[in-house]
Amino acid sequence: MPDLSRLFEPFYIGRVEVPNRIVMPPMDTCYAGPRGEVTEQHVAYYEARARGGAGLIVVEASYVEERGRITFGEIGIHHDELVPALAKLADTIKLYGSRAAIQLIHGGVQANVPEPVGPSAVARRMIPPAKTPRELTTEEVEGLVECFARAALRAKTAGFDMVELHGTHGYLINQFLSPLTNRRADKYGADRGLFALEILQRVKELCGTSFPVIVRLCADEFIEGGIDLEYAKRVAKRLVEEGGRRRPEVRTLEDALRGLPRGRPVEASELTLISHWVRERGIRTVGDLIREAKER
Ligand SMILES: Cc1cc2nc3c(=O)[nH]c(=O)nc-3n(C[C@H](O)[C@H](O)[C@H](O)COP(=O)(O)O)c2cc1C
Repeated sequence: MPDLSRLFEPFYIGRVEVPNRIVMPPMDTCYAGPRGEVTEQHVAYYEARARGGAGLIVVEASYVEERGRITFGEIGIHHDELVPALAKLADTIKLYGSRAAIQLIHGGVQANVPEPVGPSAVARRMIPPAKTPRELTTEEVEGLVECFARAALRAKTAGFDMVELHGTHGYLINQFLSPLTNRRADKYGADRGLFALEILQRVKELCGTSFPVIVRLCADEFIEGGIDLEYAKRVAKRLVEEGGRRRPEVRTLEDALRGLPRGRPVEASELTLISHWVRERGIRTVGDLIREAKER
C-alpha cells in the first residue's frame, strides 16, 4: 500500500497554493456550444468534480484559434466574447476551494478542419485517416504564438489560476517538437523547441511572470526517430530555465525589419506596420526614452 499520508496536504504551483494533491487532468466532454462557448452542462459537470474535493481541476482542451479545433463540442478560448461563460466556469470551480486551470490546444494536422496546418507537410495522425497539413509560414507561426498567449490572457481574465499548454498527444506543439513532423528550414525547424518556448515567454509577458503555466509534454513518442526521453528532459529543463524570462524591454528594429526585402526603400505603409508591431509588443523605443527623459 503506497504512503498516502501527504495526499491531503497543500502544495504550490508557482505562488498558487493548491489545497491537496488530487489533480483532475483535462478530459474533453464535448459539451460546448457551436461557437465553442462553455455551457450550463459544463458548469454542472465541473461543479460536481469541485464538490468532490479535487485540489486542482484542469478544464479540458480549449482551442486557441478556429484552425486548431479538433472536435465538435470543444471549448473555444479564441475570442473575447467567450470570456463571460469561461468566468462562470472558473468561479464555480473555485467556489468549492479547488484551483482552476484550463488547457490550451491547437490540433495542427489533427484538427478537424478542411485544410489543417502544421509545421511541415508530413502526413500523420493519431486517429486514421492520415492527412497532410499545409506548412505554416514563419509569420503564421509567430501569429500562433500570439494566439496561445491571448488565449492565456483570456483565461486569466476569466479568473483561472493557471493555464496548461497541450504539448503532447500529437497536437501542434508536439508536432513542432517532433523530428518526425517538423522538417522546417526556418528558425522553428532549426530549433524545434522554439515554438513552445516562445509561447511560454509570451504568456509570461502578457499575463505576468507569476501566472503559472503547466506544460503537458510528450516524454516519448515510442517511434523510431521521434521524441525520446532524453530529448524531452532537455526541453523540460529549457522551458523551466528560459520560459519565465521576460524579453528585453528595449530592442533594435532588427526584428521588425526582418522579412522586408533588402536594398529597397521602406514604404510609408510598411513603416506604419512596423510601428504597430513595436507598440503592440510594448517595446520602448529610443523615441520613447527621449520623451521620457524630457518629461523628467
Ligand atoms: C474522454 C477523454 C478525454 C480526454 N481529453 C483530454 C484532453 O482534453 N487533454 C488532454 O491532455 N488529455 C485528455 N485525455 C487524457 C487524460 O487527461 C488522461 O491523460 C488519460 O485519461 C490517462 O489517464 P488515466 O490513466 O488516469 O486514465 C482524455 C482522456 C479521455 C478518456
